Formats: sequence, structure tokens, C-alpha cells
Amino acid sequence: MSRGRGDGDQTKRFVTWIVVLSILCGCVYLYSRNSGTSALEYGSKSLRKLGSSYLGGDDDGDETTNKSGEEVQGDVILKSIPVCDDRHSELIPCLDRNLIYQTRLKLDLSLMEHYERHCPVPERRFNCLIPPPPGYKVPIKWPKSRDEVWKVNIPHTHLASEKSDQNWMVVKGDKISFPGGGTHFHYGADKYIASIANMLNFSNNNLNNEGRLRTVLDVGCGVASFGGYLLSSDIIAMSLAPNDVHQNQIQFALERGIPAYLGVLGTKRLPYPSRSFELAHCSRCRIDWLQRDGILLLELDRLLRPGGYFAYSSPEAYAQDEEDLRIWKEMSALVERMCWKIAAKRNQTVIWVKPLTNDCYKEREPGTRPPLCKSDDDPDAVWGVPMKACITPYSNQQHKAKGTGLAPWPARLITPPPRLADFGYSAEMFDKDTKVWQHRVENYWNLLSPKDSV
Ligand SMILES: *[C@@H]1O[C@H](CO)[C@@H](O)[C@H](O)[C@H]1NC(C)=O
Ligand SMILES: *[C@@H]1O[C@H](CO)[C@@H](O)[C@H](O)[C@H]1NC(C)=O
Ligand SMILES: *[C@@H]1O[C@H](CO)[C@@H](O)[C@H](O)[C@H]1NC(C)=O
Repeated sequence: MSRGRGDGDQTKRFVTWIVVLSILCGCVYLYSRNSGTSALEYGSKSLRKLGSSYLGGDDDGDETTNKSGEEVQGDVILKSIPVCDDRHSELIPCLDRNLIYQTRLKLDLSLMEHYERHCPVPERRFNCLIPPPPGYKVPIKWPKSRDEVWKVNIPHTHLASEKSDQNWMVVKGDKISFPGGGTHFHYGADKYIASIANMLNFSNNNLNNEGRLRTVLDVGCGVASFGGYLLSSDIIAMSLAPNDVHQNQIQFALERGIPAYLGVLGTKRLPYPSRSFELAHCSRCRIDWLQRDGILLLELDRLLRPGGYFAYSSPEAYAQDEEDLRIWKEMSALVERMCWKIAAKRNQTVIWVKPLTNDCYKEREPGTRPPLCKSDDDPDAVWGVPMKACITPYSNQQHKAKGTGLAPWPARLITPPPRLADFGYSAEMFDKDTKVWQHRVENYWNLLSPKDSV
């Protein structure tokens, strides 16, 4: 993606405003749940975009904010947007199944394409405000919301009855409560998380490994209890699940206050640059990892940092019937060719670890599948980019560094990551950026927080 200088001023300001707004939301959100620390990991693209808006020096960020703020305030058109009728109270633009039926898009269901984004042409957009469900209540605040939400805010209780034996969620009067169970961890996500940390020999069975493990991707996350229970260990998990037969899993996660989004491992890359996560997790996520030459596992590989882990809790990892044994054998062979090693295997969970360098890739027999990605493949190009069944090798520089060189959390927040050099940013620019944001967040915080909520 280019630096966006060619775009019109309008577009640029709009983009800047969106970036500023989402980062502000992120900050507020993180501050509200984390006593005094906040985390923002930018992808390379947003970094570039941010860079062009103020590190480039052609305009001052505060000024931009001020201008855009006026624009939105002065925009009378906003007031005339009607409310959608109640049938659309759960409309999610670009993830609207009715649209797919109506427009007869030819999508490959076996590749989960129907769970990926498909945006309507402008004439078919609704341009109306989504109404809340009848009786909507102000959501319960974090941290209580991890364990209970108002039933009336998410009027879908069939998941509760379907999963009642697994302790996902229970309807209790006007609330839905979440005992912290999952398909795989009936006895609670906290014990499960501690057991994973124990398998990796992390001190005090704390999965954050003294700050070295901070970012987690949970695929097929259910109601995101895994991610919810990681927050208290200072680990931030992005949980994803498709809008499938269980429909509103993500709605529950978000109502609880756990970061999550509707997404699927289908045909397009997930919207994160390469080497974004320290741990990927799947417990009974019912993904066929062997399909299409292991393309989905290779997408996880792209997303994992050097030395990153994939924790996999699924019958294939332990069950002894013929079918599961066959899958286990094939998966083991595939990940071995991908140079992953078993870090630990116990009970019903296996944890693989991704290599730190290119050494193992170089030692593979010529012609070994999956192949390495071509050198012109940009592993950080993600928006609408099809997944590829290839391994993303490290650059020479990363290969020599034998790891990410990231500081442990929370020092990571203010320590320039070595990767910045790849995009031509210096430590000084990072420090300047950090100060700008500290200043802004303080300002927002002054505006937003009355004396009683520190
Ligand atoms: C924002 O705009 C207003 C009106 O033009 C101006 O008075 C104010 O000084 C500006 N604030 C900043 C921080 O630039
Ligand atoms: C954890 O410690 C045990 C016993 O010392 C050792 O056998 C095992 O390899 C270690 N596992 C990891 C992932 O470091
Ligand atoms: C897991 O395995 C260990 C030994 O391998 C055993 O002591 C422990 O009881 C098992 N835990 C569960 C929950 O099955």
C-alpha cells in the first residue's frame, strides 16, 4: 500500500480521523480494563499510514483531530439518517447472509467463503441506524461483565441450551452467566490456561511468561472465555469465530467486553501483518487443518512470531480411534515439514513451536511441500489478499536476530521494536510518537473521566 499522499485531502483527513478514532477507542477500552497500562500493536500498514499522517511532518496530528472533529460536528446530514426497521436489528454490513442469498453470489461453502466479507454495491446499502433490541439495558461493566450480561441485550438463548452441558453459558433470570467453561475446558478457562503455562514450564504457571507472551489469537473462540480469562494475566487475545449455525458467539464475547471479531479462516488472509502473535490457540475449533495443502495452518504460521506457539486441544491430539490417529499422523508430518516442533504434549493438548530462524527451512530436501513463499510475496499485505499455501521465511535480518527482539510487556509499550527499521522508522520517531500519544490519551482521559473513575 502506498503512503496515501496521492489521495485527495478529504480522503486523507477521513482516514486519519478513522485511525485516530479507532486508536482512541482502543486506548479507552484498554485503560478501562487494565489498571494504567495500555497496548497498541500497529500492523505495518497502519504504521505506514500513521507515518504519512504525522511522522511525515506535513501536518500536525492535533490540528487534524481538531479539524475533523469540527467536520463531524457540523455535519447535519448525520441527523437525518433514519432508524432501520426491527428486522435489521442484527444487520452486519458486508457479513449479511440475506445479501448473499439475494445476489446469488457463487461462493464455495466448503472453503467457508460465505463467512467472509462481501459488501453490497452502494445501491443496496441500508444507510440506516441499527436499532437496539427491545428493552435494551446499559451493559454490565467490566470486570463483572466477564461473568454475566443482560439477556435482553442478546436475545439468543438457544446457544445456552445447546451448550449447557459444557458450561459455556447459563440463563439465570434476566441475565446470562458465563461459568468460564468451554467445549474443551468444562472446568474453567483459568485452570486450562494455567495448565498450558505449566506445559511450557513458565514460572508460576503464568502464561504471560514474565511479559514475553502478550498477544494471542484464538480461532473458533466460542464465547471467548479463553480470551476473557487471559486479560487478568496481562495477555490480550483477539478471538475470532464465524457467524455460523451458533450465530451470535461474537455478540456474547463483545457484550462481555472481550475483544473479538467475526472472521473465518477461509480463503483470505486474516487482517494482521505477519509475525503478530505469540500464541495461536484452537480448542475444538473444528477446522480441517489438512485441507488444501495445509493452507490454513500456513496462515497461522504467517501470523506467528519467531518462536511463537500453537496450542491445539482437539481429539486428533489424543483420541485413539482410527480416524483421529490418521489425522494426527498427517498433521504431525505436515508441521514437521513446516519446521514446527512439539514443545509439549500432555493430556488432550499439544503445543507446537515455530522456529526462530530459517535454518530448518534451508535444510529441507529440495521440492519439500509446502514450499517457501516467493520472494515477491509481501507477508504483510492482507486486506482482501488470498491465503497462499506457502511458508513465509524470515528476512536475513530477522534470521540473524533469532527472535523478535521485543521487550517484555509492559516495557514493550514504550520500547522501539527492531522491526520498525524495516519500514524506515527510527527509535527517535518511535519515541516522538509515544510522547504524542501519551499526551493525547492524557487529554482524552481528562475529558472523559470524571474524578470517580481512576
Ligand atoms: C481548534 O479549532 C478551534 C476553532 O477553529 C480553535 O479556536 C482552537 O484553537 C483549535 N484547537 C487546536 C488544539 O488547534
Ligand atoms: C519442561 O521441563 C521438563 C523437565 O525439566 C523438560 O523435560 C521439558 O522439555 C521442558 N519443556 C519445555 C517446553 O521447555
Ligand atoms: C494430565 O496428565 C498428567 C500426567 O501426564 C496427570 O497427572 C493429570 O492428572 C492429567 N490431568 C487431567 C486433567 O487429566
